[in-house]
Amino acid sequence: VSSRETRPYDLTVLGATGFTGRLVVEYLARATHDSELRLAVAGRNEKKLRTICEKLQNEKGVLGDVGIETCDIHDPDSLARLAAKTRVLISTVGPYMRYGEPVVKACLSEQTDYIDITGEADFVARIIKKYDEEAQAKNVLIISCCGFDSIPADLGTLFTVSLLPPDETKTVRSFVEAKMEPSGGTWASLIQAMSPESHAKAGVGALALMAKGFHREPTIGGWAFPMPVIDPWIVRRSARKRGDYGPKFRYHQFFMLSSLRSVFKVGTALGGMVLLSQFSRSRQWLLDRKRSGTGPSKQVRSKSWFKLTFVGTSATARIRTSVSGGDPGYTETAKMVSEAALTLLTSRYALPFQGGVLTPGAALGERLITRLVDAGIAFTVDEATAIH
Ligand SMILES: NC(=O)c1ccc[n+]([C@@H]2O[C@H](COP(=O)([O-])OP(=O)(O)OC[C@H]3O[C@@H](n4cnc5c(N)ncnc54)[C@H](OP(=O)(O)O)[C@@H]3O)[C@@H](O)[C@H]2O)c1
Repeated sequence: VSSRETRPYDLTVLGATGFTGRLVVEYLARATHDSELRLAVAGRNEKKLRTICEKLQNEKGVLGDVGIETCDIHDPDSLARLAAKTRVLISTVGPYMRYGEPVVKACLSEQTDYIDITGEADFVARIIKKYDEEAQAKNVLIISCCGFDSIPADLGTLFTVSLLPPDETKTVRSFVEAKMEPSGGTWASLIQAMSPESHAKAGVGALALMAKGFHREPTIGGWAFPMPVIDPWIVRRSARKRGDYGPKFRYHQFFMLSSLRSVFKVGTALGGMVLLSQFSRSRQWLLDRKRSGTGPSKQVRSKSWFKLTFVGTSATARIRTSVSGGDPGYTETAKMVSEAALTLLTSRYALPFQGGVLTPGAALGERLITRLVDAGIAFTVDEATAIH
């Protein structure tokens, strides 16, 4: 294993030819334009990688020297060679249940820190179970869920908890509002998560969970329902790992819709997707609706947004905070994962954990909040009340 400091690259983006990967490379190129960062892009198609770099160099003038590396998820040696060349590897190759594990394995074998943007609970559960101990023993950081899943929920909760009395039992409830369109990769990952191969009865379970927790929410105004997303699990794992959220910490997350009409539309669309994902032919028909490498246009993204409102309570205090920004799926996900990688690079040996399969809140915590605020994601305190 080569020493981390002498590797040719600081940061490599694997999946740089994908819809999100391209945005990550562009964000990094702009954010680190005047820095010494040694950046590389990686994927299975060298020609595609060159075209992307040329575009960023010629049309946008933001990319300096950049390494171009080829590898294939199905060729473990090529992944190990790639991992050995870089200090940190970002992977945007998904669905992660299908393509994620070999990348994690390569990073562990070469002692390379790893970051991804998965939101797939099965994948994260699998890598915790199989690789957490090894990652701790080898001092390798494996940090999943560094996109819209689950940075706003995870770091927004950390921000909220830090404003409440440390020793009191706290409950945080969050309410998610968002407007966005999915990319081909997100679409494929959603369908993968609903397919019987991935999680028997997951889709039906999801609808049952939503129906059970559905209620009118006066805090925000509108209709709230729990969604079977990974965020609550990540938030609770951060609380356990960090150990500073106080005793018996509780977290609940709800999605918000403004009218019963929207609830009906979303419910019908999700129900239809669950049904069509169960059979191979109808699943393929669904997959063909959005191709890999495609996603919402710049114009659509510029009109997309997200806001998470957090209500935190303890015995003596109540606080309302929020985390908000632009297009959650792609523009802001590219920002979040890039800033997570830059936090890791700039603070590597000052971080609280030196190895393990970790959440963004446990691994990068307050340092990442500071970077995200500087990069334009708003973390605000909207109301604070003492309870007597
Ligand atoms: N958590 C979040 O908030 C969030 C947000 C955005 C995306 N995501 C997730 O990120 C993933 C990517 O999404 P996307 O829309 O960017 O997907 P995409 O456009 O389909 O890109 C997939 C990338 O994977 C590469 N790839 C596929 N098979 C490969 C192989 N065998 N070897 C090497 N590379 C391979 C593709 O390379 P080619 O170009 O050569 O095909 C492409 O670069 C999805 O899982 C999505 O759910 C999560």
